[in-house]
Amino acid sequence: MNIRRPLIAGNWKMFKTCSEAVETAKHLVTRVDDVTDVDVMIAPAFIALAQVADIVKGSKVSLGAQNLFWEKEGAFTGEISPHMIVSTGCKYVIIGHSERRQFFEETDESVNKKINAAVKNGIEPILCVGESEKERESNETFSVLDKQITKGLQGLFTDNLKHLTIAYEPVWAIGTGKTATDEQAQEVHLFLRSLIEKKLGNKFAESIKILYGGSVKPDNITSLMSMPDIDGALVGGASLDAETFSKIVHFL
Ligand code: PGA
Repeated sequence: MNIRRPLIAGNWKMFKTCSEAVETAKHLVTRVDDVTDVDVMIAPAFIALAQVADIVKGSKVSLGAQNLFWEKEGAFTGEISPHMIVSTGCKYVIIGHSERRQFFEETDESVNKKINAAVKNGIEPILCVGESEKERESNETFSVLDKQITKGLQGLFTDNLKHLTIAYEPVWAIGTGKTATDEQAQEVHLFLRSLIEKKLGNKFAESIKILYGGSVKPDNITSLMSMPDIDGALVGGASLDAETFSKIVHFL
């Protein structure tokens, strides 16, 4: 039996102006008001966080950021600190998304600093990991994931680590319409849970949420969620429309 409470998280990426984000958040809040057994999160762009925070306050929807910089403050033009993110009311932060690794030179080392900063500031990190198509084809999936987890969480394998979510997002499935099959995803989720068990013990491994991400839609969420080690989803494209995202939230 899956004892973990599912999390359905929406990553809005670089979409929506402030007013569009507010509108979508308003629609979503009313559509998921009846949900009792699922946690819901949306991660709008930084500029919309404060306004969307006002809309989701007291609702079933939590707020997340899509990135952070690890310093508290300083001369770092264009960056956003953990402290600032907390001030907008974010509960979560997405870290190490493959688009950041691919287009913004994010490395396992910078991911590690960001996770550390999130944990220190009481923001729950959602650590994204995943292999490329080429890596899967050359049977490197598990070694790539092992490296991303081991390096990304270096120094964090301690009792102090209370809140952490992992999102398995095969790069070849993001925004492509190609979803991993339920079995492919389950195989990797089980691998990730065993890896976490080795590093953080059985209790932590049993409670950690491992989300699947990559072309999640209303018509594939139910079967993905029937897999024993899939505890939720990180949804990109299909989270941009409140009605579609709400269908995913109501997967049961
Ligand atoms: P997608 O994106 O659902 O559009 O494939 C997922 C993600 O990048 O988190």
